Amino acid sequence: MKIVVVGATGTIGSSLVYALQNDHEVIAVGNSRGDYQVDMTSEDSIRELMKTLGRFDALAVTAGNISFNSLKEMTSAEWQKGIDSKLMGQINLVRYAMDALNDNGSITLTSGIIAREPIAKGVSACTINGAVNHFVKAAAFEMPRGIRINCVSPTVLEESSASYGDFFPGFIPVPASTVAQAYKKSIMGIQNGRIFEVE
Ligand SMILES: NC(=O)c1ccc[n+]([C@@H]2O[C@H](COP(=O)([O-])OP(=O)(O)OC[C@H]3O[C@@H](n4cnc5c(N)ncnc54)[C@H](OP(=O)(O)O)[C@@H]3O)[C@@H](O)[C@H]2O)c1
Repeated sequence: MKIVVVGATGTIGSSLVYALQNDHEVIAVGNSRGDYQVDMTSEDSIRELMKTLGRFDALAVTAGNISFNSLKEMTSAEWQKGIDSKLMGQINLVRYAMDALNDNGSITLTSGIIAREPIAKGVSACTINGAVNHFVKAAAFEMPRGIRINCVSPTVLEESSASYGDFFPGFIPVPASTVAQAYKKSIMGIQNGRIFEVE
């Protein structure tokens, strides 16, 4: 399979690339690194990427930024960051990938445990991850040509614990290699419109 991973150079993405690369042609896309670059907050950039890549069998998005702050202190710009990146960035990647995907292909997006388990300063992440999950459930009904769409919703990763594990008291971190298996399930499986919780 020709599999495009947007966010391939990150913590989750690099683990997914590692899990796929022996058996598939993996196209690693980052923002500043990788085989190809895209800015998922820009529709023009996404359009250019799709033109460059040609047709493929699967898209996995392991990218999307969100701001963390309290509801009282979160600025409009901080709210907008998550909307432009993690929400509309992923939605626009889906919109443009729909034409580029081969019949019976798949799309796998990323949300996060905060969608169902809010944390302090996670009001934007909770809102946006929840929206990503709901988008996937609804979009699954409109996918053409046998294309499937799912979402992976992981808890905090072991590899990220040192950076922001303190924000997740009592959450048990999982290794990126375990999270990568959920993307494999989505890409190689038969499920559609599913949210794969990994915790
Ligand atoms: N890490 C966790 O514990 C965890 C848990 C649950 C959910 N998540 C979610 O999983 C996703 C990935 O997390 P991560 O920890 O793997 O992130 P990460 O290590 O920070 O990696 C981010 C990836 O996204 C790319 N990227 C950054 N800005 C971009 C843009 N504007 N357009 C396209 N690509 C862009 C980066 O490319 P460059 O390397 O080229 O900059 C990199 O490949 C995020 O949405 C995060 O909320 C993470």
